[in-house]
Amino acid sequence: MKKRAIITGITGQDGSYLAELLIQKDYEVHGVVRRASTFNRGRIDHLCSDVGHPDAAIYLHYGDLGDSNSLLRILSDVKPDEIYNLAAQSHVGVSFDMPEYTGDITALGTTRLLEALRTSKLPAKFYQASSSELYGKTTSPMQNEETPFYPRSPYGCAKAYAYYLTRNYRESYGMYAVNGILFNHESPRRGENFVTRKITLSLANILAGKQECLYLGNLEAKRDWGYAPEFVEGMWKIMQQPEPEDYVLATGRTASVRDFLELCMKHLHIRYERKGSGKDETYTDTKTGRTIVALDPLYHRPAEVDFLLGDASKAKRKLGWEAKTTIEELARIMLEADCREQGISL
Ligand code: NAP
Ligand code: GDD
Repeated sequence: MKKRAIITGITGQDGSYLAELLIQKDYEVHGVVRRASTFNRGRIDHLCSDVGHPDAAIYLHYGDLGDSNSLLRILSDVKPDEIYNLAAQSHVGVSFDMPEYTGDITALGTTRLLEALRTSKLPAKFYQASSSELYGKTTSPMQNEETPFYPRSPYGCAKAYAYYLTRNYRESYGMYAVNGILFNHESPRRGENFVTRKITLSLANILAGKQECLYLGNLEAKRDWGYAPEFVEGMWKIMQQPEPEDYVLATGRTASVRDFLELCMKHLHIRYERKGSGKDETYTDTKTGRTIVALDPLYHRPAEVDFLLGDASKAKRKLGWEAKTTIEELARIMLEADCREQGISL
């Protein structure tokens, strides 16, 4: 019999790649979707045709991490072998505007799902999408499973709660409940208001003459950026281990937002000149003389995570998992996809 998996957050970047991976591995894949007034299934549309049909690639269930009854109903209907909790209010900047909601969904939503699993007494394994945002204002040169947490946003605090709750259910009830502490991972399916995708999409739009200027916040923050399809493979591997344990997944390389921006412009053969300094800094296209990048304080956060660099040696040793895609390749993959949409070939 096929293994059954439930993915919360299946309509998001990671959920869509994980659904594809589990289908390839011959799982029966069930996804939790929220009702929206606009269509929110663009990333899984290709898996959805014929939903309801016995040969459908995935089965979708209406539910919400804010609604315990829907979670209980879905667990009891599906009786899964594995649950991947990827749903969250996942935007760090937005979490400063909506701290209560972020806590309700990203932190308490995890409690609701773990409680639904515990009370249903199903023997399913549980994966929690933990984050390198847990490390926040870290002073460690590289962060691994032993590095202390210092979250810097309502999102980071909510993820810290969910991390500890997952461990607590493992220790209290003997449940197979694990955390994947994932560093930033991107792709052409990345949400348009995360910085890498904002950059690749805006530069493609600027080249196509559909946008004048790209406005950004802090260019100096450094992140360990990987490629999302590789990271969902790591999630699955974490769930196949005989013992439930927490793992860091990262590339082991770090780069600033500025590095990523300049790398993308280089890929697109945009020759630029940097003008001004501080909040007045701009990038001008030397060919057209137009300002194509400028700063906007709107995108600055009340508290910033300045530096992240992951040490995934435990994942390499125990899972045989390693990130392969470099930041140069990642930028190219994302730019190609966004430029293709504009009819521009690189
Ligand atoms: P994403 O693209 O923003 O997707 C978030 C998903 O959560 C979407 O499917 C969204 O549904 C769903 N969701 C939001 N609120 C919900 C609610 N109340 N009930 C049910 N579903 C809800 O995020 P992602 O990049 O794929 O990340 C997946 C998970 O990993 C998130 O928990 C994120 O915090 C965490 N994480 C991500 C990274 C990264 O670099 N990508 C790194 C570490 C950890 P809609 O489509 O309806 O909005
Ligand atoms: N979003 C955004 N928009 N970020 C900007 C901008 C901008 O215009 N300008 C500069 N930045 C900076 C942010 O201040 C941050 O330092 C960095 O770019 C990355 O921001 P995001 O792409 O929004 O990602 P994040 O690192 O805050 O959070 C992502 O990664 C976490 C893992 O470390 C999200 O995917 C989280 O859900 C995830 O947990």
